[in-house]
Amino acid sequence: MATSLIHLQAGVPIDDIVGVLTEHGGVVVEGLLDRSTLDRFNREIDPLLEGVRPDRRFLNPALDWFFGERTRHITAVASKSPTFGAAVLVHPTLLGVCDAILGPACARYQLNLAHVLDRGPGAEQQYIHRDELVWIHVPRPHPELQLASVIALVDFSAENGATRVVPGSHRWPWERMPEADEFAIAEMPAGSAVIYLGSTLHGGGPNTTVDQWRRGMHLSYVVGWLRTEENHYLATPPAIARTLQRRAQELLGYAAHDALASGGGYLGALDLRDPVDMLADGTL
Ligand SMILES: [Fe+2]
Repeated sequence: MATSLIHLQAGVPIDDIVGVLTEHGGVVVEGLLDRSTLDRFNREIDPLLEGVRPDRRFLNPALDWFFGERTRHITAVASKSPTFGAAVLVHPTLLGVCDAILGPACARYQLNLAHVLDRGPGAEQQYIHRDELVWIHVPRPHPELQLASVIALVDFSAENGATRVVPGSHRWPWERMPEADEFAIAEMPAGSAVIYLGSTLHGGGPNTTVDQWRRGMHLSYVVGWLRTEENHYLATPPAIARTLQRRAQELLGYAAHDALASGGGYLGALDLRDPVDMLADGTL
C-alpha cells in the first residue's frame, strides 16, 4: 500500500508548511490558488495549448525520453500569462516558504522554471528523479538549492497521473531508489500544489484515463547564484519584463545577487548597476 503526504489548507502559518516540508520532503497545500485566479490562469493557457504538439522534440534525446510524446508543454509562462506574473510567481505562500528554505543559502532566490505540463491519456510514469539533479556539479552535502512545486490546474487523481512523491527521500543516500510502497500519490483538487524540495524523489504518474488531460505546472525557485533551467532573459526579455511588477522582475533574475552583507560580491550586474533599477528608471 502506498504511503501518503500531509495535506494542509492554504492560509495556515508558513511555519506549519515549512515544518512538514522539512520533515517529509513534500507537502500538499490545498487551495493555494483561489478559484478566480485559477480560472483566469486556465483561460490564458487554453489558447496557448491549442497549437502545441505533444510529440515535439527537445534539446537532447534524454529529454525526448523523459517527457515522452503524450504531453503538451508551455514554457516562458511569465511572458505569456499576465495572471502568472501578477499572482502565481509572486504568491506569498510560495515566497514565504522560499524565504525559509532558500533564504539562508543566498542573498536572494529567483525563479528557476515555470513549465506547464498538460499530460495526456497514455502518458507514462515519469522517471523518478530529484529536480536538483540539474546542478549535479554542486558537491553534496549542500544546503537546499531549490524549492519546487507542481500546481494542479485541474483535479489531480491517481488515474490521470497525479505527481508521485517519495516522503523522506530528501534524507536518503543519493543512490537509494524507492520501493513500490514508498510512493505517495499527490491527489488534490485543482488550485492545490504539492510543494517539495529539490532533493526529494518524485515523478509524474501514469495517465491511465482515455480522455483526461492532467494539466499542471512545475514552478520552482532556486538560490540566486546558480544558473536557472530556463533562460529567463530570453524567455521574458526586457520589453516584457518592464510591464511586470518589480517583485516579478527580481524573481526573473533581473535583480543583481548582492552578497555584500555576507562578505561576498555581486552577480548579474549590467554596466555595474542593478538591472532591476534600470528597468525602473527607463535605462533598460
Ligand atoms: Fe521533477
